[in-house]
Amino acid sequence: MGVQTVAVPIDKYGMDIESGEHLAPRAALAVVTASQQAPTGVSLSPERRDALLGWASNANAWIIEDDYLAELQLEGRSALALAGQHRAGRVIHIGTFSKTMSPAIGVGFIIAPPLLARRLIDTATWLNAPPNIAVQAALAKFLTEGHYLRHLRRMRELYLARRNILMCGLIKSGISSCIPAALSVLVPLPTGLDDQYIARVVREINLSPAPLSPWYANSSRAKSGLLLNVANVKEASIVENCLKMRGYLGNAATLENASEKHRTAIG
Ligand SMILES: Cc1ncc(COP(=O)(O)O)c(C=O)c1O
Repeated sequence: MGVQTVAVPIDKYGMDIESGEHLAPRAALAVVTASQQAPTGVSLSPERRDALLGWASNANAWIIEDDYLAELQLEGRSALALAGQHRAGRVIHIGTFSKTMSPAIGVGFIIAPPLLARRLIDTATWLNAPPNIAVQAALAKFLTEGHYLRHLRRMRELYLARRNILMCGLIKSGISSCIPAALSVLVPLPTGLDDQYIARVVREINLSPAPLSPWYANSSRAKSGLLLNVANVKEASIVENCLKMRGYLGNAATLENASEKHRTAIG
């Protein structure tokens, strides 16, 4: 398609919009995970949101808001979608029920300015077969009868409790360097410890963390770490599993040091 992508750095306020403008002065499109950056979970600050929306309207550019976690913000109030803000006329909001319900239902949605509707419908027609009509009808009923909101409230509480259990398990096992990251917990690893290798070998003990380094656009700047998903944490086996994982990692001091470096890098 002739698209040239440019990676924009993030810090504790989310995407650095000024750097983005500098790195890609003629950009036509910005793709953002504004409410919870993937994978760190950092929320785009109000000032940066303003700057991003301002950039899009001045440059006649578009923003794709990939709202993959939607309302599953575990602490505080969910950040307002960019598409719901003042001056949001250049925002294409993409939502999914993959995380809030299940990837198996295969339903997502787009909220976009009406002038794009025709082209989006044409494009969607060519991409994939539409989701099963019975699933769509059941989901619509689930939403309109208010069950979805109740489900979200329950899942937020459940995932927050599971994230706390996981953090406690990690700390009890001597991995005190863990950092909450949206629906995951990040365990920063010392430079030189290959996170992709560790993620592979701990499968032998039935753990399946995701390595952090492949998330970096620029592999020479990639940091090593493990992202542990909180969704299926089981309280009964958590400490035992964390202790097993601990056996594959370096000593506590090196882990602590790696965590400090990550924190400094994110801001
Ligand atoms: C950054 C990001 N965007 C979007 C999605 C959702 O994709 P889909 O709706 O195709 O399952 C995910 C799922 O993991 C994700 O990590």
